[in-house]
Amino acid sequence: MIKKNIFNSLKPSINEIAKYIPGESSIVGRKSVIKLSSNESPFKIPKKIFIKANKLTENSNLYPDGDSDLLKDSIAKKFKIKKKRIICGNGSDDILSIITQAFSREGGEVICSEYGFIYYPIVAKVSGAKVVTAKSKDYSISCKNILASISKKTKIIFIANPNNPTGTIIMKNELVSFLKKVPQNILVVVDGAYAEYVTDLRFSDGLNLTNQFPNLIITRTFSKIFALAGLRLGWAYSSEKIIETLEKIRGPFNVNIVAQNIGSLMLKEDNFLKKSIRHNMVWKKKLSAFVNSLGLETYETYANFVLIRIDKAKFKKKTLIKKLTEKDIIIRDLDNYDLPEFIRVSVGNSLEMKKFMKTIKSIILK
Ligand SMILES: Cc1ncc(COP(=O)(O)O)c(C=O)c1O
Repeated sequence: MIKKNIFNSLKPSINEIAKYIPGESSIVGRKSVIKLSSNESPFKIPKKIFIKANKLTENSNLYPDGDSDLLKDSIAKKFKIKKKRIICGNGSDDILSIITQAFSREGGEVICSEYGFIYYPIVAKVSGAKVVTAKSKDYSISCKNILASISKKTKIIFIANPNNPTGTIIMKNELVSFLKKVPQNILVVVDGAYAEYVTDLRFSDGLNLTNQFPNLIITRTFSKIFALAGLRLGWAYSSEKIIETLEKIRGPFNVNIVAQNIGSLMLKEDNFLKKSIRHNMVWKKKLSAFVNSLGLETYETYANFVLIRIDKAKFKKKTLIKKLTEKDIIIRDLDNYDLPEFIRVSVGNSLEMKKFMKTIKSIILK
């Protein structure tokens, strides 16, 4: 007789989940470590904002505003959108999880792209749904293959635009024609974690498209260009009805007091944003060109990281990663993204980029 235990009650799909492994950070804290593994901002937030955090923690005995009212006001103002259609979360991963809790279920299917962000299949499986993976095309998300993967059971489609870890984007015209073809009973999540970095005018972050497509939800984060990964802050924008549904099931105080206030202040830092975009434009190009000059292949990126192929006939990827780590440089191994020949390198600050380039050159050309 099988002994009963608590794990018998788990949804079968939960047993399929491989734990999310973030960019290596075990050697962070060691002096002068260069962390290029999680696409964080290489810049510290302005000191005038940073010093406010101390004062804010004085009120830690009290709960924060559960509705993140001030923050929503600031987001609405900055992005010229409607406050009532915003939800805030403890990072955008919090919101991705809330979305699947609400709109996915056992017996349902969730479509993710091959080489898409690895947290989507996790939240889908937590909800009990089956994950359907749509083949990508040349490492880009294929709207055509996603549409072909839709079935009667499809509940949610996840798309990161730009995509992590490949850095590719779907332009506005393609996104719109895709959205027109998706049945209205399927929720489309467009994750714009890296949207602020895109300068190509053919791109749309999709916020305005939510007026046209009531089944569209856009998620955003403060972890990348706004340089607040450590505070955990994200938000989403959709129809009033979808947001009302998500608001019912989020944690009552899911955004802490420091994140709400510092996030709100960061939205006003136009110069910080401009500097970050400029820096990224310059360095993603320099980084790619340099890596190419060493004989390694890169892919055009619209985000703050570069996808690099380490041709196994030319060089052992594991040796490269080990040697970089020995020199206190952490990059992202993409084995768990099913990209065994690839690494991903975030754009760091100028000094970090120079050190990375010098070090990888010395390893590859040795
Ligand atoms: C595409 C994408 N979405 C969401 C996230 C999660 O961001 P957050 O820090 O807001 O949870 C990441 C983090 O790397 C990401 O790459």
